[in-house]
Amino acid sequence: MLGIIGAMDEEVAKIKEQMEDVQVMEKAGMEFFEGVLSGKKVVVVRSGIGKVNAALCTQILVDTYEVDAVINTGIAGSLNADINIGDIVLSTDTVEHDMDAVAFGYPLGQIPRMDTFSFETDSALRALAKRVCEEKLSEISIFEGRVVSGDQFVSDKTKKEWLVSNFAGYCTEMEGAAIAHAAYLNRIPCLIVRAISDKADDSASVDYPTFEAQAIQNSVKLLLGICEKL
Ligand code: ADE
Repeated sequence: MLGIIGAMDEEVAKIKEQMEDVQVMEKAGMEFFEGVLSGKKVVVVRSGIGKVNAALCTQILVDTYEVDAVINTGIAGSLNADINIGDIVLSTDTVEHDMDAVAFGYPLGQIPRMDTFSFETDSALRALAKRVCEEKLSEISIFEGRVVSGDQFVSDKTKKEWLVSNFAGYCTEMEGAAIAHAAYLNRIPCLIVRAISDKADDSASVDYPTFEAQAIQNSVKLLLGICEKL
């Protein structure tokens, strides 16, 4: 069983429309849609926004549905001038950019007393996603790199530069690292797939609503393609 998490209704609505044999369960304020997508058994859920919602949601997928992998699909702000609106970032690893225990000698982003700085995501899932992108989304560019997450919509040039210089992230959003963190603790593979809706700078709050729908369309297309091949 594959778990598919989107933070917002808009990010999962189009996926749910394509599912067959759907059964719905409600837990922790989230609706879990279990069924078949492109021939693959899946559970699709809107986690809600932010790291806590995302981590809780991942744990419910593990405990209740015993998922053997999790994919997070959604949108993000670009942290790299080469990564444009509509392009897709496939995660290599993730960091929680709002974790700060520098006072105790840890690097920014490092969670104290954990044995890893970043949470690596699954290379086989990433390779599969890349193949689907090349086949189905040849008009956009695909990047593989670090996704940084925090409970903050980044819409400020100074904050963006801070993220780039401290974490070398490719894009920023609000859930991916929490999902990868929960997947790491449960020893299951995961992948974060993010289509770019804005540049995480002073124009982000204008670009975001303008390009949200287009970006979501790209990430949904990719997800359906992944399920076909799994
Ligand atoms: N999701 C999409 N764009 C974002 C941004 N600029 N910051 C945080 N999350 C986002």
